[in-house]
Amino acid sequence: MIITFGTQKGGTGKTTLAISFANYISGLSQRKIKVFDFDYQKSFYHKWKEDELLDIPKLYDVQIIGEEEEQPFSDFETLINLKESEEINLFDLAGALDAKYSDLLIYSDFIVIPFEYSDVSAKSTLVFVNFLGLLESQAERVFIRSKYDKGYKYLNQQGMDEEITKYGMLLKSPVFKRNCLQSIDTRKLTYEQKYAVKNSFNEFIAYINETLQITI
Ligand SMILES: Nc1ncnc2c1ncn2[C@@H]1O[C@H](COP(=O)(O)OP(=O)(O)O)[C@@H](O)[C@H]1O
Ligand SMILES: [Mg+2]
Repeated sequence: MIITFGTQKGGTGKTTLAISFANYISGLSQRKIKVFDFDYQKSFYHKWKEDELLDIPKLYDVQIIGEEEEQPFSDFETLINLKESEEINLFDLAGALDAKYSDLLIYSDFIVIPFEYSDVSAKSTLVFVNFLGLLESQAERVFIRSKYDKGYKYLNQQGMDEEITKYGMLLKSPVFKRNCLQSIDTRKLTYEQKYAVKNSFNEFIAYINETLQITI
């Protein structure tokens, strides 16, 4: 299975969610988890490398892809094997639309799209969703409200939610803005971090199981 964390905008929480999801699912699933860092900034990979200094066992491997080759999946077979595999293959993308992502975006099982309610983020989210449409991506689109501030009244929330729901699954529980998520590592989730993501992730996992008729 392939789960991709992507959207058109940087700084929306893709890497934070990808790391926390990888850690979270490691604690729940028997399946092997593999992470592919497909962002030229390689934040996930660098963090994972840095965490080698920690005194806790690693939960999964992270590899960099797309560095040299323009189209890392031009042979297709690699990608289809990842999709058909029982393993959970997680991809973290850069906040940019790039032709090198096309095949992955087409063949992912799920694309997790974190978004915020700012005007800028709303626009990029819709651009990204349109791009997926143009690609005729088969992936289920899963939208997560990221860095959500409970105490703030987002004026465009209702309209944006309605728009987004036309394109995919909008998870009911947001991931709130939490300081504890700013210093996440790739080897554990603290109690506080787990608490910050668990409602969204449980909903997402239930959706995966239901959609693919499996138990992840
Ligand atoms: N839920 C959250 N609460 C607080 N800070 C967050 C949250 N999610 C992400 N951040 C912070 O926002 C910044 C951008 O997040 P990041 O995950 O790197 O985004 P992206 O990968 O989309 O560029 C980072 O400094 C990160 O620590
Ligand atoms: Mg990132």
